[in-house]
Amino acid sequence: MSEGRAAVRGLDPDRAAATAGPAAGPTAGLDQPGVDALPPAPHLLVTGGAGFIGSCFVREILARGDGTRITVLDKLTYAGDRANLAPVEADPTQAARFRFIRGDIADPAVVDPLVEEADAVVNFAAESHVDRSILDPEAFLRTGVFGVHVLLEACRREAERAAAGSRLGPRRQPRRAPRFLQVSTDEVYGSVPIGQAGEEDRLEPRSPYAAAKAAGELLVRSYVVTYGLDALITRGSNTYGPYQHPEKLIPLFITNALDDQPLPLYGDGLQRRDWLYVTDHAGAIEHVLRFGTSGEAYNIPGGMELANRELVAALLARLGKPWSLVRRVEDRPGHDRRYAMDGTKLARLGWRNRVPFEDGLTATIDWFRANERWWRSIRSGDWEAYYGRQYGARLSHSRPAPDPTADLAPELAPDLRTGPSRDEGR
Ligand SMILES: NC(=O)c1ccc[n+]([C@@H]2O[C@H](COP(=O)([O-])OP(=O)(O)OC[C@H]3O[C@@H](n4cnc5c(N)ncnc54)[C@H](O)[C@@H]3O)[C@@H](O)[C@H]2O)c1
Repeated sequence: MSEGRAAVRGLDPDRAAATAGPAAGPTAGLDQPGVDALPPAPHLLVTGGAGFIGSCFVREILARGDGTRITVLDKLTYAGDRANLAPVEADPTQAARFRFIRGDIADPAVVDPLVEEADAVVNFAAESHVDRSILDPEAFLRTGVFGVHVLLEACRREAERAAAGSRLGPRRQPRRAPRFLQVSTDEVYGSVPIGQAGEEDRLEPRSPYAAAKAAGELLVRSYVVTYGLDALITRGSNTYGPYQHPEKLIPLFITNALDDQPLPLYGDGLQRRDWLYVTDHAGAIEHVLRFGTSGEAYNIPGGMELANRELVAALLARLGKPWSLVRRVEDRPGHDRRYAMDGTKLARLGWRNRVPFEDGLTATIDWFRANERWWRSIRSGDWEAYYGRQYGARLSHSRPAPDPTADLAPELAPDLRTGPSRDEGR
């Protein structure tokens, strides 16, 4: 089957809806609720909560108004932005249950008192961009390994206090040890040429980013085994949606296309990724936090595998922009060809994704169209230096990229060529 035909099959709305499952509230798809590991109205410490996925997790939970309190600890690196939490801070009822602290997860003086208060710690904090990990790996190790170690040590101390009966709640009642969830990635499996990676498969990271994430996971496992810590791991697939930093593929290509700038597509564009909408990623993390078994890792697939160039064609169709914007540039070193994960274990836990790919992609494009001020402020200052370093030479040696819709039968092509942009491109 040609890549183009696979794309059309991948973009079939019926298939997308089938992978999305029923629509409902934040714990949608919860077939067998099981035992909730969190107390009622828990206090969560969300590290890296000013980034893309962490801020979505915070916004979704606080908007529910169920009494959950959240403290965000975030270093506000170039990727973190308090504006991502503005909807929470602008709503007095949500703001009353929310606190923001700027700080580093690798700093025990900041971390320890915050973990002391928390019922659970959800660690989103990481340097998260593979390209930057190739340019400069050190920060990835500091946050991804040493930072995780500091969080785990704080949880270990709290677990010891809980066991001794000296970990007390606000009304001096005994409290359980905090539950720890490490947000990890499908990239720890490395490239998966055929089939799907299962949770017990070997970790074979191939970039400094993925290696730091795998190392963080191994530390978590070691604390479960050695100290009996209550801790879990999630491995999410490629995530997209509003508030994603414009350095990542989908927002980079949307914002470049809106400005009629070239879209730098790595290599042949046939690398395959599985796309997960951000609210589904955040919802699945919360579900695992509540109902997962300590010591276990859970894959969070998106259920929508596409070659990069098929994804780009779908974006351009919705944006009403021509394929001629796409430039084939020198590939990323060690670029993984394919990620794919088996989601059976998460499904057994009762989670189903809710957002079909078609809807997620349209919502993402609409959001970037409507929030130009947000992404333009990021694409200024240091951005230019980064962009020049990453793509300057690549673009100057680039060539046109083959149009993936060109070899499609005419009856199959419209989905990619024009897509919903016929209606939405006004
Ligand atoms: N984006 C994806 O496609 C994807 C997929 C699977 C897993 N993940 C994982 O999900 C998590 C969040 O990803 P994202 O895309 O939201 O990343 P992001 O880069 O948008 O956000 C990371 C956040 O962590 C903060 N941070 C970085 N170092 C810190 C430190 N030392 N102390 C405190 N805060 C720090 C940053 O300021 C930022 O707010 C990461 O752990 C990433 O590995 C991401």
